[in-house]
Amino acid sequence: MKSTAASARPGRVETTGYSDESYAITARAVQFDWTDVPLEYIPGEAYATHFWNVMHLVLPEGERAMADVFARALPLIDDRRLHEEVVGFVGQETTHASSHEGFRDYLIAGGVDVDPIMRRIRYAVGVVFGDHGLTGRAGRAWLNERLGIYAAAEHFTAVVGEWLLDNSEFDRRGVDPTMLDLLRWHGAEELEHRNVAFDAFQYVDGGGFRRARTAVIASFGLAVLWFTTAAHLYRGDPGRRRFRVPWPLAFARASRRHLIPGLSFLFVQLGLYIRPGFHPSSMGDIDKAVRYLATSPAALAAQP
Ligand SMILES: [Fe+2]
Ligand SMILES: [Fe+2]
Repeated sequence: MKSTAASARPGRVETTGYSDESYAITARAVQFDWTDVPLEYIPGEAYATHFWNVMHLVLPEGERAMADVFARALPLIDDRRLHEEVVGFVGQETTHASSHEGFRDYLIAGGVDVDPIMRRIRYAVGVVFGDHGLTGRAGRAWLNERLGIYAAAEHFTAVVGEWLLDNSEFDRRGVDPTMLDLLRWHGAEELEHRNVAFDAFQYVDGGGFRRARTAVIASFGLAVLWFTTAAHLYRGDPGRRRFRVPWPLAFARASRRHLIPGLSFLFVQLGLYIRPGFHPSSMGDIDKAVRYLATSPAALAAQP
């Protein structure tokens, strides 16, 4: 299925062109039971486990901050269809945040030191990317800038989501099924709502230069946050004596084993995103997301 959701001009979204959103973007009230899930849920792969642990630690704050910024943009969106999708998007991101937070609590109970990470992420989203009390034109410009940054971040979460759905190595390695469902359910919803943040940014701002600039900020910001957080967790792992390799080598090994995406991924996706005429609907098959969500144990458990 293919979408022709948004024009590239600000303030205009062609709602009559939709063909792949016959289903609405809505939050699913999923539940995960972490009892007996091993802290090293990718067996024998400490670095890869910590790489995905970054999601549980930094996403709850990041996704709530993003949901808040898009909720602030809602009064600026008159298009009924897009307005409805942004409401669904905000609901989905809020559910993602609380689902990852559940495992974060489990990590804390398991003795993982998350305090330095939490201080950093709370400073980043609460102070650096907070609203700074700005109003009027400055407030609007800062809102648009943050919409651009989060829209670009959403491109990365959508492509990583598809990567998670496609990855058969996790099944072969016996990754814990509850964790695998969390990663894939989240990935599937990211793929499902891949157009929404982009369309909202295009509607409210739509500037090509702002799109490119915020994409560079988002991609390098995410990379720094991800690598430093994973390295902190890897260094603090209680079994660290068995590690013989520094984290950059561990990263390269894990990506070669298809347990995490490689670094080239970042540059390739950044290049795609900033190309004039790009729209997320031109990415991979959204049916993949719909199919996974129809079988995800957590999503099925949420159905009445
Ligand atoms: Fe999310
Ligand atoms: Fe998302």
